[in-house]
Amino acid sequence: MGPATDGATGSVLVERRARAAFVTLNRPEAANALSKDLVGALESVFAELAGLVKRGDDLRAVVVTGAGKAFSAGADLKERRAMTLEQTWGFLDELNHLMNAIAAFPRPVVAAINGAAFGGGLELALACDIRIAADSAEMGLTEVRLGVIPGAGGTQRLSRIASVAAAKELILTGRRVRAQRAYALGIVSDVVPAANLADAAAKLADEIALGGPLAVAAAKRAIDEGATQPMADALAVEAACYQEILASDDRNEGLAAFGEKRPPVFKGR
Ligand code: COA
Repeated sequence: MGPATDGATGSVLVERRARAAFVTLNRPEAANALSKDLVGALESVFAELAGLVKRGDDLRAVVVTGAGKAFSAGADLKERRAMTLEQTWGFLDELNHLMNAIAAFPRPVVAAINGAAFGGGLELALACDIRIAADSAEMGLTEVRLGVIPGAGGTQRLSRIASVAAAKELILTGRRVRAQRAYALGIVSDVVPAANLADAAAKLADEIALGGPLAVAAAKRAIDEGATQPMADALAVEAACYQEILASDDRNEGLAAFGEKRPPVFKGR
């Protein structure tokens, strides 16, 4: 098995659990801060997982989480201090590339926020499709307190996921909020005891795996591509995504299974 199915790429662990891949940021000694190496390793892992999907692997969901106490403390500020402005700008570009690859990943990506998620760490979670958090987790886009602004999608993704009001509250103050408050703001969709977080994420992945993989992927694209468009254009995006799966075997299987009162067996074609 390659590293994207079970193993490690740099500071990222990958473990296959049923039809989900658990991707774990593994720099606990640095609160999983996003160093260049860690970002590069995450890019490789997601590219490899996307390759598996393309080759017909039955991967249905990815769960991203952190090893140790933190989810991710954001940009590696020790590394950042030694970077020139040009290097910093280049790194931001790379970080955005990673966030966009996660956002466009052909299967749902779930962030299981096990602990602190600040700055780029929260932006990473915001690039995922669904976020759940441990009750002990804290999160925030704290960049203004460092004299900068979120630069890996935070200002745009937080306002779209939660609200402009929530984004302004968190980003303009740079404050840290607990999981329950993040839930109230619509940033995370569930808060569970820390000890149950991995199981809750696995359960969510299993639930996603009940759906036809082509349908789930098309629905993700329809939602994402339509979200920023006027209603008429957005509905056209939905129609185009529907049309792609209209003639699929999975659709026939879904209808047949309903008629025969049995669970469907989707093949992703
Ligand atoms: N970049 C680089 N190293 C970081 C880091 C970051 N963003 N955040 C934490 N670390 C390092 C700490 O310096 C410490 O290393 P050390 O043992 O060599 O001193 C190690 O990670 C553990 O952090 P520590 O603060 O001792 O652990 P903690 O459990 O008490 O707190 C955090 C964890 C994440 C809550 C806390 O470290 C924190 O608030 N970090 C800054 C988060 C932040 O503002 N990020 C910037 C966003 S733009």
